[in-house]
Amino acid sequence: MTTQNKKFYVTTPIYYVNAQPHIGSLYSTLIADVAARWNKLSGKSTFLLTGTDEHGQKIAQTAEKAGKKPKEFVDSFIQAFKGTWHDYEIEYTNFIRTTDASHIKAVQEWIELLKQKGDIYKSHYTGLYCVGCEMFITEKDQVALGEAQTTKHGQGPNGQGTNGLSPDFVEKLEHIPEQGCPQCGRPIQAVSEECYFFRLSKYQDALLKFYADNPDFITPPERMHEVINFVKEGLKDLSISRTTITWGIPFPGDKQHVTYVWADALNNYITGIGYGSDETSFKKWWPADLQVLGKDIVRFHAVYWPAFLMATELDLPKKLLVHGWITVGGQKMSKSLGNAIHPTALLEQYGADAVRYYLIRHMAITHDSPFSIEDLEQRITSDLANDLGNLVNRILLLAEKYHFTRLTPPAITHSADQELYAEVQEMLTAFEADMHEYYFHRAYAHVWKIINRINAYVHAQEPWKVIKQDPDRCAAILSTACHALHTCAVLIWPLMPYKMELLLHALGMSITPHHDMFTELRSTAWDTTFTLSPLAPLFQKHEKSPETETAPTTSVTSKIPMTPEIPLITPITIDDFAKVQLIVGTIKTVDLVEKSDKLYKLSVDFGDFGVRQVCSGVRKHFAPEELVGKQGIFVGNLQPRKIMGLESQGMMLFASDAEGKLALTTVGREVPNGTRLQ
Ligand code: MSP
Repeated sequence: MTTQNKKFYVTTPIYYVNAQPHIGSLYSTLIADVAARWNKLSGKSTFLLTGTDEHGQKIAQTAEKAGKKPKEFVDSFIQAFKGTWHDYEIEYTNFIRTTDASHIKAVQEWIELLKQKGDIYKSHYTGLYCVGCEMFITEKDQVALGEAQTTKHGQGPNGQGTNGLSPDFVEKLEHIPEQGCPQCGRPIQAVSEECYFFRLSKYQDALLKFYADNPDFITPPERMHEVINFVKEGLKDLSISRTTITWGIPFPGDKQHVTYVWADALNNYITGIGYGSDETSFKKWWPADLQVLGKDIVRFHAVYWPAFLMATELDLPKKLLVHGWITVGGQKMSKSLGNAIHPTALLEQYGADAVRYYLIRHMAITHDSPFSIEDLEQRITSDLANDLGNLVNRILLLAEKYHFTRLTPPAITHSADQELYAEVQEMLTAFEADMHEYYFHRAYAHVWKIINRINAYVHAQEPWKVIKQDPDRCAAILSTACHALHTCAVLIWPLMPYKMELLLHALGMSITPHHDMFTELRSTAWDTTFTLSPLAPLFQKHEKSPETETAPTTSVTSKIPMTPEIPLITPITIDDFAKVQLIVGTIKTVDLVEKSDKLYKLSVDFGDFGVRQVCSGVRKHFAPEELVGKQGIFVGNLQPRKIMGLESQGMMLFASDAEGKLALTTVGREVPNGTRLQ
């Protein structure tokens, strides 16, 4: 491997600081973090740059509305961004602010350089501006989106006089207030101001050649086609300064102008690693291996940014990864639409890792994806608590029960073990291919398929039966399962670092960063000795509503027979215990529930507490006559809930063994119904 291949530099867009970060901002940042961690696993040194975009008209206006000075206003949000990234385990290497002195200086030097090259000239801009997008709206945008009935535009002189706008279009500018921004729909304004222009048009052919030579520059490829078409239609020079606002980097050599916010912001990708301040660092990390961005800012990154870099005579980034939007009710989640969900609100309830998992695994990265709490909860319950959590519990508990605290390598002589080994190897190949394309959601679907294969393997091998005749084989089954689980835990680490570190610790293993763990997983036989230790359940189930209980799930898992959960004991206080009202009741009747092969509807006599209806999913374990007339132990103060449309007013307790078989819980002698356990 060359030194070049041993480094990985990834960037996120820098965020406008006019509000706290929301799930959409978290999404861009998470993608970059997962990419960085995945590269760490592959033995590379990584640099993750993120930060805040603090200048421009939008920030200035919002600050004014808040009655604050722009700098004071942006300062008030920085901790929220840094804190959220920290809470969500985003390991950034540098957090750049465009108000940092080193960035301002480097941008000014960059402008001087381009001036010297003759790539910047002074002229006049008359046209439209969207403050929300901080974007000059070209005549072409209007035509393309059918927003304005402009005449067909010719190429015109690039940026001279009125920036090449056709006279008809200039006339139409009078009617602008009725038109929204073709990109975001928000109000736009007509501006007419003196500007410095960057000779973007000069780079049109070079850009087209670059796209042709680097067909993989943008993921997904559809975005590449849009960009090529946009450039082919002709590029006009780009205004890179403003005179109607003052909140920006002073334009060198002309006090009337401040730098256009995108010309300022895009340069963060080089100034954040040392351009203009630390050449060694800059040379080490540039060009970026991956730049993550949302689909709303493609033109800035795929056209303007490469042209800026060409003018600066710097290499271009290797890849732009364009993700879709997280939507709520079919609309982009955003601060301005007022439908933003804040990451901190989810943190306490679900934990960072579960949210990371949900956003990366269940949002198709290149498409828009809806976000819903119900879906999040369902995925946590099905994929994390049931599929992964149960597997972990099951292996660790069986090993503990049979006193296998050290599991030596399995011989892999049984065909079932060989099959599992081969499937894990195949999964590694498929996983790597998808990770290479940054199709994380697909890559992790392969891992979950294996998690369920391991579950099925343990289920089929029945170590709880084998232990009686052949303890060595039982240990080999558990060791085989541990090897497969260990592979999964390492691969899942970029997604859920904290939980996987806990799991790896329970297996006696760890992550060794900057060490090519992935190649190691692929090339080594299963020859690890695991030293196991107990682990509290990694994920909590979220109670399903009746709809989600019957709703079809896309989880690859649903067909695999699952053993019921075997929870480990985590200490609670006596006060916690006092909250649970355990009472004795006699089962009077047991009825089948239509359309369910699991559920019984019981009517239970609780004495003074009345006769109540209790739904219990034990049909596979007991015939009705095994239950009728029995006294059982129930949770009496569980909030009533609906199961398959029936109200359940209590929960009956059963004991589950390692094979998943249930035993009734009851009292040693008959007691009055309604007696409380204490
Ligand atoms: N400041 C510019 C970027 C400058 S980069 C040199 C900007 N900031 S932003 O705060 O508006 O958006 C930052 C990123 O968050 C963009 O990639 C955008 O796509 C992403 N998201 C904002 N809302 C989003 C969703 N609802 N869903 C997914 N990502 C979205 O643009």
